[in-house]
Amino acid sequence: MEKAWWKEAVVYQIYPRSFMDSNGDGIGDLNGITSRLDYLKELGIDVIWLSPVYQSPNDDNGYDISDYQAIMKEFGTMEDFDKMIEGIHERGMRLVMDLVVNHTSDEHPWFLESRKSKDNEYRDYYMWRDGKDGKEPNNWGSYFSGSAWQHDEATDMYYLHLFSKKQPDLNWENPKVRDEVFSMMNWWCGEKGIDGFRMDVISLISKQPDLPDGPQAPGALYGYADCANGPRVHEFLKEMNQKVLSKYDLMTVGETAGVTIEEAKRYAGFDENELNMVFHFEHVGLDGGEHGKWTDKRVPLVEFKKVMSAWQTELDGKAWNSLYLGNHDQPRSISRFGDDSEEYRVICAKMLATCLHMMQGTPYVYQGEEIGMTNMPFADISEVRDIESINAYHEMSEAGLISKEDMLRFICLKGRDNARTPMQWDDSENAGFTTGTPWIGVNPNYKTINAEAARADKDSVFHYYRKLIAMRKEEPILAYGHYALLEPDNESLYVYTRELDGQKLLVICNFTKDAVNYDIPAEFDGAQILIGNYGRTEAQGAIEVKPYEALVLKK
Ligand code: NOJ
Repeated sequence: MEKAWWKEAVVYQIYPRSFMDSNGDGIGDLNGITSRLDYLKELGIDVIWLSPVYQSPNDDNGYDISDYQAIMKEFGTMEDFDKMIEGIHERGMRLVMDLVVNHTSDEHPWFLESRKSKDNEYRDYYMWRDGKDGKEPNNWGSYFSGSAWQHDEATDMYYLHLFSKKQPDLNWENPKVRDEVFSMMNWWCGEKGIDGFRMDVISLISKQPDLPDGPQAPGALYGYADCANGPRVHEFLKEMNQKVLSKYDLMTVGETAGVTIEEAKRYAGFDENELNMVFHFEHVGLDGGEHGKWTDKRVPLVEFKKVMSAWQTELDGKAWNSLYLGNHDQPRSISRFGDDSEEYRVICAKMLATCLHMMQGTPYVYQGEEIGMTNMPFADISEVRDIESINAYHEMSEAGLISKEDMLRFICLKGRDNARTPMQWDDSENAGFTTGTPWIGVNPNYKTINAEAARADKDSVFHYYRKLIAMRKEEPILAYGHYALLEPDNESLYVYTRELDGQKLLVICNFTKDAVNYDIPAEFDGAQILIGNYGRTEAQGAIEVKPYEALVLKK
């Protein structure tokens, strides 16, 4: 397989609002990030993916952009940005920016113009339609509750917004829109020197021309807006690749809601000239139910193994995987896939990290994951800040589908704010995140779970991540080795092998708090222990795998 720097890299995601506040306004900012670059260097990561820092009215915390070439006031200035990127590059790291071009903010000058009149030159930058029989143009629901259509008085027409009504969808059919986006991207690469893009919901940019009604589940309030992998999405991405991406040495990752393995081979195929890799959602959909993510269902291990293994084996040699368990839209990985109890949090966070980082693909660490940060015990809906959770709380309870009590419980399990509480730096007030009042509450467990304590403890989750990350540089088999699943039906253990150039790894992970017997295959007799979370020095033949143990053997 052809080598590439982004195939060997480990990425760290920063959610700037919650990472580090430098000026006491309670909101994280760019100078805060710059002040913590040495910490990221110590961790050993190669690439920072920065969630949006562009000018935005913050209806969706920066994923609603009103100026693509300006920095959000709360986050600082363009000079602060220049200082930050210089600091990143000086330390030998790279910067990947979020690209949010399925939609803009309704406060973007293009939309302010577009809504003025039917013949405005920006009208066709967005998706305007007439109503049908005095109602919305179709039955699509928005990802953030309610209809995906908003009526606009000025012209008595509706505009499409797959997310909030302050996030109108751009019309990618219009070549002028594409040119604007591409020239903005060229500016960030050419003028500002960034190293790549994470592309927000990029699989949704090409809509079916006739915008047909979507399937509506019994009891559901709206139809499904089936916009994923639309008819022209690959054409648009090839055009983007030709006009922008191919001109620089970038890393690109598409956030591709609704992507299948077959589609991923097109988005991220080695010969397709589109993107380097995509984020799929299959493993984070396994604990969904009748009302989507709003349930207390847990991820079934056998299903999880099946999904991860299919992506591992089917993309091998054809396209590249991204590896993640958490991000700013997902709950904390330790709480969701593991065990965040006092007894097992540390050991289990190391197990999850091992399980993910030993796979083929580019691993992503979400801020705080490297110290084992957990979900947040929100006690009341007034403590929640996320538009998705707040809207769903009201919509579900008002429709009588889920009670308020259950919704709050589900938000504590699945809501996006679990990942958005401030980074826990130390045990001082507000976890060292801010000297002011944080925009969202700090997790009360910061006195024990924080970066300073983790750095001081050689057995911490932090130092374990450092080892895993460093190992990826030393052992090419981690990036490039072929993957095979063993024990597919075992409900406790996740066991797999990697193989490259006559070398072989065996990865054993116990996903339960019970000890489990396992017979190590004879071909690993005399193998070296590459890494493990119990300090085991020998492993051969019949062993008892300890609670949440992770063990990697190399032969
Ligand atoms: C996906 C982003 O990750 C999420 O945070 C955002 O709300 C939606 N796209 C809309 O931009």
